[in-house]
Amino acid sequence: MEKNRSSFPMLASVSIHLLVISIVGLVLYWLTSLREGLALSSSIPMKIFNLHPLLMVLGFFIFSGEAMIAYKAIPAQRQTIKLIHLMFHLIALASGIFGVYAVFKFHDEVKGAHMYTLHSWIGMATIVLFGFQLIFGSITFLFPGAAPATRARFAPWHVFAGVLIFFLAIVTAETGLTEKFLFQKLKHGQEALLVNFIGLLILVFGISVIGTAVFPIRRK
Ligand code: HEM
Repeated sequence: MEKNRSSFPMLASVSIHLLVISIVGLVLYWLTSLREGLALSSSIPMKIFNLHPLLMVLGFFIFSGEAMIAYKAIPAQRQTIKLIHLMFHLIALASGIFGVYAVFKFHDEVKGAHMYTLHSWIGMATIVLFGFQLIFGSITFLFPGAAPATRARFAPWHVFAGVLIFFLAIVTAETGLTEKFLFQKLKHGQEALLVNFIGLLILVFGISVIGTAVFPIRRK
């Protein structure tokens, strides 16, 4: 059977995954050592809030990025990669929904307002569009799968919509970090630097994923 032997360079794959490891490490260090820690229910509501950046960055953003580069980075049969692509997206969506639930729960506990910022509007739009893309993509390409001609016609639109939604996820993550920076009145110091570095790494990871997704695979 045909293998998806792409010419995606090993160096690119290693670099992207070094970025992933750095983002995961820095976000965990930030939330557990410099902030209050993490909890689903607690007398310290900030612990509940902290689940939001954790799940949105490590779950939603990283897994949707991994799903997008799977076709280029994983040397396996196409059908296997399709399932990995779907599985990563399902993990991303579940994390995204749970992460948004966490920040709603936090706002309820501190009697704060909902959905009043640009971050929350773009973020909600991102999650909803992500869900639609997942449903339409699964029906067209997997269960039950459309006719080959329809799939071929739909594929560029699927890629375009995927890149657009991922771009919205980058914008949402960056605005979320900026909001948190300002809410905490950070300026100089370790935490301020750390939050800005997380934002920069998210940007570099995002650009790398989009670059990987839009360049065509050259089969060996
Ligand atoms: C792509 C990922 C993200 C999505 C889809 C997202 C989505 C959302 C949504 C829908 C809300 C509104 C909740 C409510 O009204 O009760 C919200 C709130 C918030 N998010 Fe995010 N978020 C993301 C990433 C982040 C990150 C990385 C941070 C960094 C700490 C962050 C910080 C905040 C803050 C401070 C709030 C409360 C203020 C507000 O409603 O804007 N978010 N987010």
